[in-house]
Parts: sequence; structure tokens; C-alpha cells
Amino acid sequence: MKLKRIGILTGGGDCPGLNAVIRSIAKPAMSYYNATVIGIIDGYEGLVEGRHRELTPMDVLGIINQGGTILGTSNKGDPFHFPMGERNNIRIVDASQQVVDHYRNLKLDALVTIGGDGTQIIAHKLAEMGLNVMGIPKTIDNDLDATEVTFGHDSARAVATEAIDRLQTTASAHHRVMVMETMGRYAGWLALGAGLAGGADIILIPEIPFSWDAIFESVLKRSKGAKFSIVCVAEGAKPSGGGVSVRELDKKRTDPVRLGGIGELVSKRIEDETGLETRVTVLGHVQRGGSPTAFDRILATRFGTVALQAMSNGQFDVMTSLRQNTVITVPLADAVGRQRLVPPDSQLIFAAKAVGTCLGD
Ligand code: F6P
Repeated sequence: MKLKRIGILTGGGDCPGLNAVIRSIAKPAMSYYNATVIGIIDGYEGLVEGRHRELTPMDVLGIINQGGTILGTSNKGDPFHFPMGERNNIRIVDASQQVVDHYRNLKLDALVTIGGDGTQIIAHKLAEMGLNVMGIPKTIDNDLDATEVTFGHDSARAVATEAIDRLQTTASAHHRVMVMETMGRYAGWLALGAGLAGGADIILIPEIPFSWDAIFESVLKRSKGAKFSIVCVAEGAKPSGGGVSVRELDKKRTDPVRLGGIGELVSKRIEDETGLETRVTVLGHVQRGGSPTAFDRILATRFGTVALQAMSNGQFDVMTSLRQNTVITVPLADAVGRQRLVPPDSQLIFAAKAVGTCLGD
């Protein structure tokens, strides 16, 4: 298949490794296929509004180690539910035909959509409207079912692990309980991975609703021995019988729910119920920023290069996926809309419990 004009967009929340993917498509596309690469600005929002620019070899020079995305991104531009207007006067319209029109006007042969589940659901719907789309999965949350791992996750986990290391020394010095809230949405991969790597004493994840008593008992026990505790709590964690903590609802977002607040709640309850001095750190977007790890740079580059090869073979409406350490493509229809949560029989859970970590159950 002749690939003369390729569009690329990054959608949803950013993560380390997006630029490595853009580079791994743009470089070979320009040099081997002599193709023109069009960068769509700010994800689907830019595709609806017709914002784009042609990428040059200079644009993708030296960006493998850069966090963020040179194209910009947005989690408010779902073309099928496109928000128009301002804060108190938002109308949701279907702007998908504008996307199709811009794709045709740009004379694109293919559109690469780099993003999480929301981005790929939209990509599949656009494929059904006749666009040649190629999905590349990203997310720090690692919650996409169709791939064993997404790039961005390893980098975020490394940041969260380092944060635990830093909290541990100050916790130990002051004999305090330190609660750290990670991102991860409804999946516990980030909190569990960082908690395990950082040696957290308590790890709370959405997949295991926690008992308050188990937490109080665990910190009180440690206060008599080690004299400090580290609690690593995922933003989606919830007490058994309770719901998730929601920071905000924003109709403009592809997913209106913004999680947050469980760290503060856990910290307050521990201090109130046990009398132990407790502090909370909400890591937030620090986990999404900065340079990708070597693992993420390599995975991102493998995803990009396999995607380009698959497109040149005429494969579309698919997404790259890592399976048994090999990058393959899977149909978008099978890949989207299914969350990958930490299974109860996960070896990570087994390992955490074996080394004495309390999982709140
Ligand atoms: O999906 C990635 C993620 O960082 C989640 O872990 C988090 O809940 C959400 O995005 C935060 O979104 P925003 O950057 O819009 O606040």
C-alpha cells in the first residue's frame, strides 16, 4: 500500500514515551517511504478544528528522551460527543463528519492514533466511517486489556517508587505514617508495582476493597517496631462497602470523572483513629511528566515501527499490542472497551503478601 501522507495524533492524558512513538513513525516514514507526515495538534480536538502542521526531520530530532508530546493532546475532544461553548453553557454535538472531512482534505492515507482506551474507541468508530486508522496504546495506568503492557507505565512506576524511597527516610526520621496517593484510575497496577518496589507497608488498590480496621491494626503494630509506616494508595481504592473518591465531574472530558481524595481520607482516618502522626502526599502529575525510562523508549519505538510496517501492508482498524514479548497487531474491535485490572491471583499480590505487606483485606 502506498503511504504518501500519514497523520499522527496523541489523545487523552500524556505520558512519557509519546514522542518516542512519533519519532519512530516519522523518521522511517520520511526516509524510507518518502512520505509526508502531518502532526495533528491537540489530539481529536485539533482534528475537529482543522489544526495541524507538517512535521520535518528536525521536528523529530532528539525527542526520544522527551516527556509530553510535541503535538499536544487533549482529553476533551471526542468528535462524537464534542463539547461546544463555555463552562455553564456546554452543548455536546456530533462533530465526527468534520473529522472525516479534514482527513479527506488533508489527503491522508492513514491516521495513527496514539492514546488510551478512550482514544482507541474513537479510532475504531472513525474506521467504521471509512478512515484508515492505526491505534497505538499508551497509558500510565496499564489498564488496557489487549496488551500486556503499555508504554508510560514503567516511567510512572519508577517515579512513584522513587517517591516512596524519599518518603521512607523522612517517615523513619519522624516516626510518622506517610500516605502516598498514586494515579491509575480504576486499576491498581501503578500503586501495586510502586508499592512493591518501594517496600510500602500497606498497599491499597481498587481491586481489593479495604477494611479500615486492617489498616489501623497494621500501622499500630508497626508503630511499636519500625516506628513508621508507608501507605501506598491508588486513587481508585475504596473501603469495602464504600465508593471511590471523586475530585470533580467535568462534562467536557471524554471521561467526565476525575478521581482523587482517597489519600487525604486515609491519612485523616489513620491519625484520628490511631493517634499516630500522619502526612499525605498526592503524587499527581509528577508521575506523568519527565523522561521515559529505557523500557518505555524501547517499547514505544517497537510499537511505532511495527505500526508503520503494518500500515504499509494495508492493515488498518488495528492496534499494536505486546504479547509474550512480541509486538503484534490486534483488531481494534476486540481491543477496546475492556479494562485490564489486577487479577486476584496476580503474582504481584502473592509477592506483596509474602513479604508482609498489608493489602487492606
Ligand atoms: O489515565 C491517566 C491518568 O493520569 C489517570 O491515572 C488519572 O486519573 C487521570 O489521567 C488524570 O487526568 P487529568 O490529567 O485530566 O487530571
